[in-house]
Amino acid sequence: MKGVILAGGLGTRLYPLTKVTNKHLLPVYNAPMIYYPIRCLVNAGIEDIMIVTGGNNAGDFLRLLGNGKEFGLKHLNYAYQEGEGGIAEALGLTEHFVEGEKVCVVLGDNIIEKNIIGPVKAFEKEKDGAMIILKKVPDPERFGVPVLEGARILRIEEKPMAPASAYAVTGIYMYDRHVYDIIRTLRPSARGELEITDVNNAYIKKGGIVWRELEGWWTDAGTFASLLHANNLVAETGANKA
Ligand code: G1P
Repeated sequence: MKGVILAGGLGTRLYPLTKVTNKHLLPVYNAPMIYYPIRCLVNAGIEDIMIVTGGNNAGDFLRLLGNGKEFGLKHLNYAYQEGEGGIAEALGLTEHFVEGEKVCVVLGDNIIEKNIIGPVKAFEKEKDGAMIILKKVPDPERFGVPVLEGARILRIEEKPMAPASAYAVTGIYMYDRHVYDIIRTLRPSARGELEITDVNNAYIKKGGIVWRELEGWWTDAGTFASLLHANNLVAETGANKA
């Protein structure tokens, strides 16, 4: 399975911290934010990784990460997203890299306490379809939220005012090769972006999605409050543990 880290966007919710750098290069305790999703994939045994970035500071990723030696990698792949087309558009840029394999996608501002090796191994055994990773949170209205009937996901609602469950859809997704065909059918949402939630809802419609609940804590780091929270969690307990 290939790995993709989506680290583009303007990070406007963190302005002015993101005025002269990319959100994913900001520190989270003792490491740049982008280190955590890279470790997440590497700890799950995924070593063929592409980072999609954008904006004015894309060159800094190369200076910081190089070929990924610090993570035990021989090589890292990069793609450049022009503009603010959204998470699904950024994923679309990786089609030539993934080359018909399965892909595990991690959003560049998502940090986990433990690891995803269990779900990754389970998805490798699936014939096709998609897997999403859920986590119970106190504030699901900030995220994609699954509408559940028993263990079955009926649909995902993006940032609903009245969440239908206590789960957030984390920014860790696994897809078969059909994901790129789905992305080509998407239309921009109200915020003008191609939404990853629309990709997941397309898989749900086909009956092709499974989910796992994440062990350990999970946080994003894209707002002042969640960035502070991420720093504190990493400082107190450490991240990406076996
Ligand atoms: C994105 C997704 C959302 C998901 C979240 C996880 O939101 O759209 O469904 O729950 O990432 O971090 P964003 O942070 O881009 O608003």
